[in-house]
Amino acid sequence: MTYTSVLTEIRGRVGLVTFNRPQAMNAFNAVMLGELFDALEAFDRDENVGAMVVTGNEKAFAAGADIKEMAEASPFEMITQGRVEKWDRIRGIKKVVIAAVSGWALGGGCEFALSCDMIVASETAKFGQPEITIGVIPGAGGTQRLARLLGKNLTMEMVINNRTLTAAEALQFGLANRVVPVERYLDDAVALAEEIAGRAPLAVHMAKDAVNAAFETTLTEGLKTEKRNFYPLFSTEDQKEGMKAFIEKRKANWKGK
Ligand code: CAA
Repeated sequence: MTYTSVLTEIRGRVGLVTFNRPQAMNAFNAVMLGELFDALEAFDRDENVGAMVVTGNEKAFAAGADIKEMAEASPFEMITQGRVEKWDRIRGIKKVVIAAVSGWALGGGCEFALSCDMIVASETAKFGQPEITIGVIPGAGGTQRLARLLGKNLTMEMVINNRTLTAAEALQFGLANRVVPVERYLDDAVALAEEIAGRAPLAVHMAKDAVNAAFETTLTEGLKTEKRNFYPLFSTEDQKEGMKAFIEKRKANWKGK
């Protein structure tokens, strides 16, 4: 598949997607959004890929939805084109997706990073939801995902008063998993993804699903999901191999079965 607005490559067992609209600070137009999810879904199906990284460039991860593309849109057009529903495709990705963020992660760019499973940020990363400054609000999950991560008050400030978070703040508040010098953020994200790609695939999938349930349900329901994901793993070859390898003091050889 040939894309124009994203670049794709496989490094080791890691599928890498790079936003490729530097002239527009990697703003998501319809083409880039479609290509992003097509690429992620293709990597999700690819047996040679164990985990994914999505990145932009040093200056901008992504500056949000393309304002020029939607400036004249009516509500009817926004609804019929499913403008914000399209972002939900990230929820269907089964393998782990890491956002490698440097520079601006604004609006939909911040929301997309929050929709990934982990964030590795450069020291120059800045996270914000500036939609209020153009007369709208976040539409791709920002109000909900930020509130769950940061609590109400800071989210209010970000969404209502365009407060941006520095990389250090993102780390402090649990939004970023780690913050590293700009020269290293992509390599570190790929190395983290490679590490995850080397783990038992079915267990990784069940773990991701169970953690995500914590954001969707009550504790009782979430604990049920965890048990529903835990028990079936005892029917896998990888569980037998993993526990045998521990006892035999050797490295496990995962089969993904
Ligand atoms: N949409 C379209 N074009 C954008 C863009 C966006 N979101 N962000 C930047 N660009 C374009 C600029 O228009 C400019 O293009 P021209 O050279 O043709 O004028 C180019 O990218 C470079 O941008 P700047 O000159 O503004 O660069 P800067 O370094 O001075 O500022 C910035 C960088 C702070 C990211 C600034 O561009 C900016 O504030 N961008 C808009 C951020 C924003 O409001 N995002 C929210 C979008 S709405 C949304 O995302 C809704 C949702 O929930 C899904």
